[in-house]
Amino acid sequence: MEIKITLLPGDGIGPEVVAEGVKILKTIGQKFGHNFKFSEALAGGIAIDQTGNPLPDESLAMCQQADAVLLGAVGGPKWSDPSAKVRPEQGLLRLRKELGLFANIRPVKVYPALADASTLKREVVEKVDLVIVRELTGGLYFGKPQGRQDNAQGRAAVDTMYYTEGEIRRLMRVSFELARQRRKKITSVDKANVLASSRLWREVAHEVATEYPDVAYEDILVDSCSMFLIRRPADFDVVATENMFGDILSDEASMLVGSMGMLPSASLAEGKFGLYEPIHGSAPDIAGKGIANPLATILSVAMMLRTTFNLSQEADTIEQAVEAILAAGHRTADLATPGQPKISTTAMGDLVAEALKA
Ligand code: IPM
Ligand code: MG
Repeated sequence: MEIKITLLPGDGIGPEVVAEGVKILKTIGQKFGHNFKFSEALAGGIAIDQTGNPLPDESLAMCQQADAVLLGAVGGPKWSDPSAKVRPEQGLLRLRKELGLFANIRPVKVYPALADASTLKREVVEKVDLVIVRELTGGLYFGKPQGRQDNAQGRAAVDTMYYTEGEIRRLMRVSFELARQRRKKITSVDKANVLASSRLWREVAHEVATEYPDVAYEDILVDSCSMFLIRRPADFDVVATENMFGDILSDEASMLVGSMGMLPSASLAEGKFGLYEPIHGSAPDIAGKGIANPLATILSVAMMLRTTFNLSQEADTIEQAVEAILAAGHRTADLATPGQPKISTTAMGDLVAEALKA
């Protein structure tokens, strides 16, 4: 069987970490007898530079023809002028919308070897194993009207938080299915005391909850949730929420692990198709230095194998290799404590590949 993967390396450290993800896929292909075929397409700032468009139609078509997509990161100071006509992030949003990637899965798991890397106390973070399921194609990011509405009072602008029951229901179903494979607990996050869209969210979430009587369900307001994520993060299992809340809470949750460089993600469409990417950004300050942590991308590859291709054994093998390498004390710069030796992006990728071959 031939497995077609489209690569969108993007900007900053994107190409460096995607190269390590490809290294791991090739190693898995050799070991388990899978034939991965890679093609590379432009997205983000590099696509703006070369074509004027952050997501050229050709890139979108290459993603649509693939079985899965691996993305590095997009954006950087070069393209971040707020008055610019096109921004790299627009390419990412169009990709999500056009590919129907409505469910963004962001696991946050603390590795025992890294429990001291967090700014929080070890005893607070050491048992953390949660997943944020973020709605990705609705809410404030896409609601209309959106944009400038200058008027007689002066400058003005609007964004709209709009949700349909269908959008909420499918996101909650993905969340409940995931909870069933885990500790069977869901926290649905909203702002139902203020927002109409959140009251609809809660109403529909409760309806879906009746389909899953075996899963424990709770509602929590987004402001309390941001507090409890710091105070008692190990209590959370699956956290389901709308687009903007999920964007904010997932960055917060990433700090439980100590480094964004450890966190993978999957953005899933209806069916098995998905786009996989590390949750860290393009990190322009360290781009080109060969010091970025490739583990978030490597763990994203593991998610791809398990979720899109049902290759759980291959995925487990990668995750175990990463855990063993961390336990053995190998650290990229973002993870190293003062005095600990730091290894490069490619050295970390090589270690994982070697562990897989063993
Ligand atoms: C993320 C990022 C994006 C988002 C940006 C780059 C548009 O922050 O994936 O969390 O806001 O969704
Ligand atoms: Mg974000």
